[in-house]
Amino acid sequence: VSSDKDCIVFGFSHFLGDIIDCIEAGGGALKAVVLNVPETPYPGRLSLRERLHRLKYKVPVFTFDEWYPAHWTPDHLRWQNYVIGFSGSQMKPLLGRLKELCIPFEPLVHQTAILQKGAAIGAGAIVNAGAIVGPWARIGEHTILNRGCTIGHDCVVGPYGFVSPGATLCSHVTLGENVKVGANATILPDVQVGSDAVIGAGAVVLEDVPAGVMVAGVPAVVKKEARKP
Ligand SMILES: CC(C)(COP(=O)(O)OP(=O)(O)OC[C@H]1O[C@@H](n2cnc3c(N)ncnc32)[C@H](O)[C@@H]1OP(=O)(O)O)[C@@H](O)C(=O)NCCC(=O)NCCS
Repeated sequence: VSSDKDCIVFGFSHFLGDIIDCIEAGGGALKAVVLNVPETPYPGRLSLRERLHRLKYKVPVFTFDEWYPAHWTPDHLRWQNYVIGFSGSQMKPLLGRLKELCIPFEPLVHQTAILQKGAAIGAGAIVNAGAIVGPWARIGEHTILNRGCTIGHDCVVGPYGFVSPGATLCSHVTLGENVKVGANATILPDVQVGSDAVIGAGAVVLEDVPAGVMVAGVPAVVKKEARKP
C-alpha cells in the first residue's frame, strides 16, 4: 500500500480527484501530473488545471517529453510512487514507455478500503474509498476498483479492468482482461466474464459472459456483440 508517499500521476481522467483523495487520505501528496496525450476538453466540466488550482498546494503538469528525462532520476525509484489515472487498453502504449524506464508500480489503496484475509492487489491497481476486497480475491494489475464496490471471496479480476461504484461481484466470479462493470451491477457466484466485455449499470448477471460483448438488464442479456478492445 503506497498511499503514504508522494505520488506522480500519469494521464488525466475525471477520476483524478478520487486518486488524489486516495493519496492524501494516506498522508501523501500529489507531486506532479505527467500527460501522455493532450487533455481532451469537455465543455461544462472542470479542466485538469482548474481541478489542480483547487488544491492547497501547487502541482506541476508536464507532458511526458518535458518530464522525461529532465525530471526523472533513479532517485525517484526510491521515494516516489506512480499511478496511472485511467484504466483499460488505452493505457497500454503508455505502460510500454513506463516499463522501459522500470517505473515501479505499486497498488494505491484508500485507507477506508477493506482488504480481507489473503486478498492480493496487483501492481498499479487502485482501490478507491469504501471498496471491499474479500478473502483470497485477486485483483489484476492496473485495475480500478471504484468507490464502495464489493469483490467477493475467491474472485479473480483480470488486469486493466474497471469496477464502478456499488457493483458487487459475488464469490468465485472471474473477470478477464479489460472488463468494465457498470455502477451497481451484480455478478452472481461462479460467473465467468470474458476479456473486453462490458456489464451495464444495474445489470444482474446470472450466466457466463463471452469475451467482447456488452450485457445489460435484469437478468442481463447480450445487447451488443463483440466490441473492439
Ligand atoms: C453498458 C453501457 C456502457 C452501454 O452503453 P452504450 O454502449 O452506449 O449502449 P447503448 O446505449 O447503445 O445500449 C444498447 C442497448 O442496451 C440497453 N442498455 C444499455 N445500458 C443498459 C443498462 N444499464 N440496463 C439496461 N439496459 C441497458 C439500451 O437501452 C439499449 O437497448 P435497446 O437496443 O433495446 O434500445 C452503459 O449503458 C452503462 O451502463 N454504462 C455504465 C455507466 C456507469 O456505471 N458509470 C459509472 C462509472 S464510475
